[in-house]
Amino acid sequence: MIDLRSDTFTRPTPAMRRAMAEAEVGDDVWGEDPTIKRLEAAVAERLGHEAALYVPSGTMGNQICLRLAAPPGTECLANEDNHILWYEAAAAPVLSGVQLHPVPGPRGMLEPAAARARVRAARYGVPTSAIAVEQTHNRAGGAVQPLEVLEGLRALADEAGLHLHCDGARIWNASVATGISLERYGGLFDSLSVCFSKALGAPVGSAVAGSRDLVARAREVRHLYGGAMRQAGVLAAAALVALEQMVDRLAEDHANAGGLAATVAAAVPGSVDPAAVQTNMVLLDAGAFGTDGPGLVERLAGLGVLAADTDPDRVRLVFSYEVSADDAERAAKAVVAAAG
Ligand SMILES: Cc1ncc(COP(=O)(O)O)c(C=O)c1O
Repeated sequence: MIDLRSDTFTRPTPAMRRAMAEAEVGDDVWGEDPTIKRLEAAVAERLGHEAALYVPSGTMGNQICLRLAAPPGTECLANEDNHILWYEAAAAPVLSGVQLHPVPGPRGMLEPAAARARVRAARYGVPTSAIAVEQTHNRAGGAVQPLEVLEGLRALADEAGLHLHCDGARIWNASVATGISLERYGGLFDSLSVCFSKALGAPVGSAVAGSRDLVARAREVRHLYGGAMRQAGVLAAAALVALEQMVDRLAEDHANAGGLAATVAAAVPGSVDPAAVQTNMVLLDAGAFGTDGPGLVERLAGLGVLAADTDPDRVRLVFSYEVSADDAERAAKAVVAAAG
């Protein structure tokens, strides 16, 4: 089976397992785990921020940031397809009393003009306190949020006194795809949540980055949410390997995704827009195969490819380091065969 359901299915590399076995550890609740400290320093440096904090998951990273960004009874603007709206168990309203305001926009984009039109003051109802973007955008098939859009949102945030947060679970993919440095992206945001356990292949973990003050407060919220861990350096060691060894190679995943999209688009009209494939994901329109999402997933499984129906009529294929160029070619043939 070629598993293209998600880049979260990756298993740790041999280098990660070695690093985990050999990790120097201490009690991180007491601030004494040297491996976690190294990871946090490396993340802060790469993203051009003062500090960073290791957290157990991307969801916790986002939710810690939202709690710090938006006081209870206020609103955070986000594209209607953002992960925080779809897949985080209503955590923002439940944990932080924050209302997420979904804004429509193409390819996961929160367009500055659309955001500006939604910014509200207290006297009009729910005051806006924050803006959240997602880079790259999961439900938009790994779409890269353009720099000028992010800069427009930064300008709006400055003007209106809003906190700008980035769900950067796959910000590494955006940087590799565009050549724009992590530091340049990072500098646009007041807070970021980044993941080691997605495309980079680490088994566990994410990080929050921001100012020293934000990260100090994030540490308190992490404790409140039950995310303060003890000798978690055994996990952070794998994340360090992910950061050091697994970022540049993402270009291979992007090439594999693009190659599959080109092959399938040429053989199955209307099935996929190759120009929309910017990073490691491909979205297939199940209708072009004469079926629906679950139907296409079933056909593909019968042809040796595992895929995910992320919508009733849409199937997602995700490339990561355990999927070789050869696998990608075989998967492309299977997808073409699924059209009958
Ligand atoms: C864009 C995005 N943000 C956040 C998350 C949440 O990460 P976790 O599963 O580690 O909570 C994911 C998970 O896939 C994601 O794709």
